[in-house]
Amino acid sequence: MKNLNFFEDLINPIKEKNFFDEYYDKKFLHVKAGKSDKFLDIFDWSSFTKILNMTSIWTSSSLQLVLDKNKITPEDYCYPSVDRDGNEIFQPQPNKIVEFLNKGATLIANEVDTLDTNISSIARILEDKFSSKTQCNIYFSKQGRQGFDVHFDVHEVFAINLIGEKVWNIYEGRLDNPINSVAYIELDKEYAKENCGKILKKVHMKPGDILYIPRGQFHEALASSDRSMHLSFSVTHLIGHDILSILFNEAMTKSFFRSNTPMEFQGKNKTQMWLNEFNNNLSEIIKSESFNNKINHQISNYKLTRGNYNFPNDITLNTNQKFSFKNNVILKNVGNKIILEVNKKGIKIPDMYIHTVKELISVNEFTIEEAQKKSNNLDLDTVTQLVEDLSNMSLIIKK
Ligand SMILES: [Fe+2]
Repeated sequence: MKNLNFFEDLINPIKEKNFFDEYYDKKFLHVKAGKSDKFLDIFDWSSFTKILNMTSIWTSSSLQLVLDKNKITPEDYCYPSVDRDGNEIFQPQPNKIVEFLNKGATLIANEVDTLDTNISSIARILEDKFSSKTQCNIYFSKQGRQGFDVHFDVHEVFAINLIGEKVWNIYEGRLDNPINSVAYIELDKEYAKENCGKILKKVHMKPGDILYIPRGQFHEALASSDRSMHLSFSVTHLIGHDILSILFNEAMTKSFFRSNTPMEFQGKNKTQMWLNEFNNNLSEIIKSESFNNKINHQISNYKLTRGNYNFPNDITLNTNQKFSFKNNVILKNVGNKIILEVNKKGIKIPDMYIHTVKELISVNEFTIEEAQKKSNNLDLDTVTQLVEDLSNMSLIIKK
């Protein structure tokens, strides 16, 4: 993925500071591409085909079709089947999907952010910058027909237009911090039509353009050219309500929150005094350094687990990699033998390695090459094997 490593690369030429000062959680932003091939090396027809050909992962809920604003029912494009976990599902049939695409339907492939390396990288860039959970859906249509009604989303959206042109209507109306709960999810089309207000802007998206839509802002996408495809990244933050859940669990550890409330006969004043004490105890938790650390930990880890494998490097030791013995590993003389001891468990060291292990446990860190130099003429392969064995037994850690 060329030249796309940071959030600022995504919104180029807009500067990051400008984005957060002027647009983030405030108003939509249309970033026009300097060049139409800005994202072409990221996701093209072959990437799309490759993902769709992973037929065993798709079900009627992860691969959907919408025709003239209506969802196609699973029975019309899927066969009953069994998924990889043995659950009964509706499995989309490629020939049926193509048939519906030819009729003008829009195909939506949900949660594709782990299925393609480049999409995964963009999702990670957004997750890191926004401390958020980020997912990606693909929208594809063959003919210029409207797929969806005006609606709002409960997350922010970054839409990357890859192929074809599309007009997006951004409406004036915006809901106040909608979240993924029944109260918002159940708001229907009629509600949207009544509350979306006037069209604020008709955004003409061309290949390589990006559109940022704040949470709750009403919008609709109209396919305006044949063969159009865009990636839609959803950005979901931790919210105050999530912090309440953490506070709820934290409060359980404090005696006051396990204490009885006053009884009715003790009167309202007693209740008020108890509530004041409740407030003080709650404030004490909230103001504590440990709670602050806990929340910061949650914020920095509010990400989805995404594949990070890199074989065969993952199972190959790099000669420049630094290692050190874990603090709880000690060298011990037992009788006339020298062993490694960890958590009161002894581990026998083959004689040929004793000298090297003695040397390495006394230094802060070492590479395989340094370990070889400290050994008594062991060759590099033998020392590599020793380091691998120590690593597999969790006696040493990578620095
Ligand atoms: Fe949307």
